[in-house]
Amino acid sequence: MVKTFQTISGIRQCIELWRHSGERIAFVPTMGNLHEGHLTLVREAKQHADRVVVSIFVNPTQFGVNEDFANYPRTEAEDCQKLTDEGCDAVFLPSVDTLYSPHAKTTVHVEGVSDYFCGASRRGHFSGVATVVSKLLNIIEPHSAFFGLKDFQQFVIIQTLVRDLNFPIDIIGVPTVREHDGLAMSSRNGYLTAAERKVAPQIYNTLQLARDQLRHSSYSFEEVEKQSIATLAQHGFVIDYFTIARRADLAFAGVDDHDLIILVAATLGKTRLIDNLWLDKSITPRCQNN
Ligand code: PAJ
Repeated sequence: MVKTFQTISGIRQCIELWRHSGERIAFVPTMGNLHEGHLTLVREAKQHADRVVVSIFVNPTQFGVNEDFANYPRTEAEDCQKLTDEGCDAVFLPSVDTLYSPHAKTTVHVEGVSDYFCGASRRGHFSGVATVVSKLLNIIEPHSAFFGLKDFQQFVIIQTLVRDLNFPIDIIGVPTVREHDGLAMSSRNGYLTAAERKVAPQIYNTLQLARDQLRHSSYSFEEVEKQSIATLAQHGFVIDYFTIARRADLAFAGVDDHDLIILVAATLGKTRLIDNLWLDKSITPRCQNN
């Protein structure tokens, strides 16, 4: 069974031994309830390093007051079994008290990009993410850390904080892993009713349609956004945003921008789903993946 550590000193001691013998450490932070998306990050991490460390921590500071922190699925035993099967080397499982001192005065906030899209509707969410990721990177001190491109805004925020705070760590993005019908895998998909689960892939279908329209027609960004929002609303989604942004920094996209990303967040019943699709207008469609 994979080695597990609850304390900061325990995981640090273990990693220090590996580092001392010249081994490269890759890190995959998660909130558990592991699915193929998470396990793909672990497999990718194994390609880059001698040792893979995974953290499982449902981080309270990234949940709003009315969000699902209390009900977030916690499946530690199954998760550790999956990580053992994948050949993961260590799992860090801190408690909230281990990670957060009641005297803490410091938070990490990445300005600008944290404040729109998901940041606008989930106030404080990305400060919670940036703070816990900074803490975990300081505890594990990996050579590289792996994040899913499914949470693209989160990925841009982490790239930005690592650059701005001079963490000597390579941040590697891994393409979105999807169910057979296109729905992006997510721990929150388990909240969907059977009827909602059938409708949920419409998010990905709508993203693909929008990408085709942007590539092959003269529709403006606004027209495509409007049509996509209407399509999703017809299927019963309550749309938070459906937007086309510059991929590098998620800034407002202009007609001269070619490296774009289409981002969506929408609620189906009680479940909030997010997804995105890369659109590079300067290369042929077959070369694109995400
Ligand atoms: P969590 O939602 O558990 O996701 C952990 C990592 O798995 C993130 O990098 C996320 O982008 C990636 N991931 C989730 N679903 C994926 C999919 N379908 N395909 C590819 N990658 C996927 O994201 C978080 O936890 C937290 O915010 C965290 C970074 C751990 C900080 O608390």
